Order: sequence, then structure tokens, then C-alpha cells
Amino acid sequence: MPAPIIFSGIQPTGRKHLGNFIGAIQQYVEGQDRGRPAIFCIVDLHAISVAYDPDELRERVHDTTAILLAAGLDPERCILFRQSDVREHTELTWLLSAVTSHGDLNRMTQFKEKSARQRELVSSALFYYPVLMAADVLAYRATEVPVGDDQRQHVELMREIARRFNERFGEILVVPEVLIPEVGARIMDLQDPTSKMSTTSGTEGGTVLVLDEPAAIRKKFAGAVTDSGREVVRGPDKAGIANLIDILAVARGIDQDEVEREFEGAGYGDFKEAVAESAVELLAPTRERYAELRPDEAAIEATLAAGAEKARALAAPTLADVRAVMGFGPK
Ligand code: TRP
Repeated sequence: MPAPIIFSGIQPTGRKHLGNFIGAIQQYVEGQDRGRPAIFCIVDLHAISVAYDPDELRERVHDTTAILLAAGLDPERCILFRQSDVREHTELTWLLSAVTSHGDLNRMTQFKEKSARQRELVSSALFYYPVLMAADVLAYRATEVPVGDDQRQHVELMREIARRFNERFGEILVVPEVLIPEVGARIMDLQDPTSKMSTTSGTEGGTVLVLDEPAAIRKKFAGAVTDSGREVVRGPDKAGIANLIDILAVARGIDQDEVEREFEGAGYGDFKEAVAESAVELLAPTRERYAELRPDEAAIEATLAAGAEKARALAAPTLADVRAVMGFGPK
């Protein structure tokens, strides 16, 4: 098997949570030595699909860049860049819209959910979001797309877009594979273990942030919702405990059965404490490194600029091919 071309995008929010860390950021760090190359994009163009503040957006891009660097992304071993710096993404979005079915976009569950939450404007950018996401990946002819479970439908759609493009215009684009971590792709809210951990729609107390101080992390786990039983096992009506089992398994790099065996006969209190400690340990190095990196905005900008240059060099040839087969420019 040739080395994969890995591409993933991450929203520019400073409030990354444990679910993002386990479901995405750790996958990125792992992927940077496997990908040839591994490309990670901070998707500021996607961020404007909902209400936002321009100055804040710029700041949050820096926050996110610093979190990724702090977690272990190394700009020498991967391509880390800001989406809006590479104009090819926006151009390809429009070109791909010619082979994107309106009906498919209408079926996207994220659009339905997010549009229901908007207070003022449901922008067409929100509707178009999956086309931009397809352009992100297809511009690099990426073969592998690591994402959380909630993005599965969007990756399915980009595969369909690539297939339809190739059928219509010739084999120009690569149909990418989705890569979803087996355990930890769905870390649930500690207060409401039937919904995904989320900084936008979750509970404050149930959302563990990457940059939370250890005391805050311990408090959130101590208050985690469980059930009226007493066994540390996965099972029906045990969403809270199952979520904690997943978190501990991923944090320690062991499987869920091992967690259940280790805590056989232990009370929920002890178990929660163990999970809290593992989360503290998992996140502490990133939080500490972040505090060192975040103040140097010039260094962050320099990293992003260097990343954009590498990204552009890869995307430009794809755009040239796409434009040519679609009938643009001189023959
Ligand atoms: N939509 C993704 C999310 O919210 C972010 C994203 C944008 C992305 N473009 C991408 C992920 C391309 C993978 C590939 O998590």
C-alpha cells in the first residue's frame, strides 16, 4: 500500500474539548508520520457559515493553531495551514457545485440541526458547507480523511461528488476513504451522556475543555451523570458509565474490556476519580505547552504562512486539471 495522503479540517474555536482531542487531534498527531503528506487545515471559511465576529475569528484561528502545535503537530512533519490563505478552496467549491446534487445537500443532518439553531439568518454558506468541505479534501487528492463520527455523512457526500465529477469529466479526482477512530469517536457530554460533547450545544459542566485546569476537570468528572446501578460495565441504560469507560480506555491506550476487568467490584466514585486523573494527565502537557506558544502571534502567523505555501503548491495543479477538463481557459 502506498503511503496515504491524509487531509483533515478543524474548526477555529479556542474551546476544544476532550471529544475533539480524542476524536480528532490525537488522530492528527498519529497521522503526521503516516501521511505523505499529512495536511491539516484550520477551516476559517467554514466558520462564517454561522454568526461570527471577524476580529474574534482571527483570534480563534491563533488559539486553534497553538492548541494543535501544543498537542504535538510539527510543521516540519505535516502541512498545517489556514483555509482562507489558499484561494483554491473557494474556487474549487464553485466548480464542484456543478456536480453536487441539491437534494443531497438537503439531506445533510448537520445542516438540519445547525439551521434549526440559528437565531437570525440561515445562510446559504451553511447549506454549502459540505461542498467547501469536499473541495478542501479533493483539492489535495487526499486518500484518507480522519474525522469524528458526526462528519461521516459529509465524507460520504464528498466521495459521491468526486465520483460524479470523474464520471462526467474524466478521472481527475481521488475518491477518499473516511477514517473514524473505533473507540472515542463519540465522546458524550458528562451531564447528558445521550448527546455528544460539544462546546456549542452541550452543557457547561459536562464539557471537558482541553485548556481546563486540573481542578476544573476533576470537578466535571465528579459530577458526571451515571445510573442507579453499581457495576462498571457497558450495557443498556448505562450511557454515562460506557462513556467514562471509553474515555479511560482511550486515555490509557487500553481496550474497554480491560477497563471493565480492572474496575470489577469498584464503586462509581473510585472509577470516576480514576477517569478524571487519566483525563488530567492526557490533557496537561497540551495545556502547558499552549501557554508557552499562544503569546507569540508572529511565530504562529509565520507557521501558518509557511503551511499555506506548501498547501498551495499541492492544490494548484489539481485546480489546473479541473479547470482544463471543465472547459475553462484557452485549450
Ligand atoms: N466539518 C468538519 C468539522 O466540523 C471540519 C472540516 C472542514 C473538515 N473541512 C474538512 C474535516 C475536510 C475533514 C476534511 O469537524
